[in-house]
Amino acid sequence: MSESNSNSLDFRTALKQGIHLLREAHVPSDTLAAELLLLHVTRRDRTWLYAHPEELLDPQAIESYFSLLRRRAAGEPTQYLTGKQEFWGLEFEVTPDVLIPRPETEHLIEVSLDRLAVRELRAARDPKLTGEGLTIVDIGTGSGCIAIALAKELPAAKIYATDISAEALAVAERNATRLGYSNRITFLESDLLSRFSSSSYQSPGTNHQSLFFDLVISNPPYIGRKESTTLPIEVRDHEPPSALYGGEEGYEFYGQLIPQAALHLKPRGLLVLELGHNSLPAVRPLLETPEWINLLGTNDLAGIPRVLSAERTSA
Ligand SMILES: C[S@@+](CC[C@H](N)C(=O)[O-])C[C@H]1O[C@@H](n2cnc3c(N)ncnc32)[C@H](O)[C@@H]1O
Repeated sequence: MSESNSNSLDFRTALKQGIHLLREAHVPSDTLAAELLLLHVTRRDRTWLYAHPEELLDPQAIESYFSLLRRRAAGEPTQYLTGKQEFWGLEFEVTPDVLIPRPETEHLIEVSLDRLAVRELRAARDPKLTGEGLTIVDIGTGSGCIAIALAKELPAAKIYATDISAEALAVAERNATRLGYSNRITFLESDLLSRFSSSSYQSPGTNHQSLFFDLVISNPPYIGRKESTTLPIEVRDHEPPSALYGGEEGYEFYGQLIPQAALHLKPRGLLVLELGHNSLPAVRPLLETPEWINLLGTNDLAGIPRVLSAERTSA
């Protein structure tokens, strides 16, 4: 089946041809991918598409649609082709400089909000959080999805977001601006928390030495380089390696991140970490030390241990 013999194509036929092309290339979720690409090039929404299946596409749209289908068939993720991905009910711009936000990362937000609310209850305060008085840092912010979701949920919190990639930070800052949270989040290029340990950073109105956090949250790179050949082509050949690989084994990153978090958390501050599908046995012992209490593992919807959280002791 080819689009080339037709410069008059209606939406229904275009969709059918797109699904066929992707199915032949063994693209997962072929129907959804074809639909998203068709909607993207025609700037229509799904309701419109199903109400007007006989409408003709203009030749320019046909060309763009089949060009995107071919790129998708060759392995480029749909989200990089459309430039967007939803997370926590918000639409994020994504480019090949950032990891595509995953649904399971939303568990980090849920666990953080739950545990912050429990802290309030324990202190006999109102568990309905505004974030008043809270200082939060998201390490490895990528598209900014975690920092921005927290800014949405905690309208009075002061939020920092770091990344080692200047290109990723540019995307995160654009997302914060477009979604209306840029005045709430300070974006910093930093290797983990190093910018908070050196005199090079002075946060406005305070100084770095007094910058201790109530919440350190991170979805770090956690795939092992030795696993790279097992990854889908969409991930291995298209997502940024600095967002994927945590080291040869995958869990090495946590070994640096956890001690730094311990230094930068307030007593009773929270650490909330996303885990790789097999990271728990390597990461849990790093938190079974006197600096940490109240360890909690949370599974994702597939039953995989996905979030590990802990509280900094007061000592
Ligand atoms: C798995 S991605 C997570 C992106 C985003 N937070 C999310 O959940 O979709 C990891 C991010 O950590 C960043 N990163 C890698 N090494 C880092 C380091 N040493 N310090 C800070 N960020 C780092 C990568 O550039 C990438 O954006």
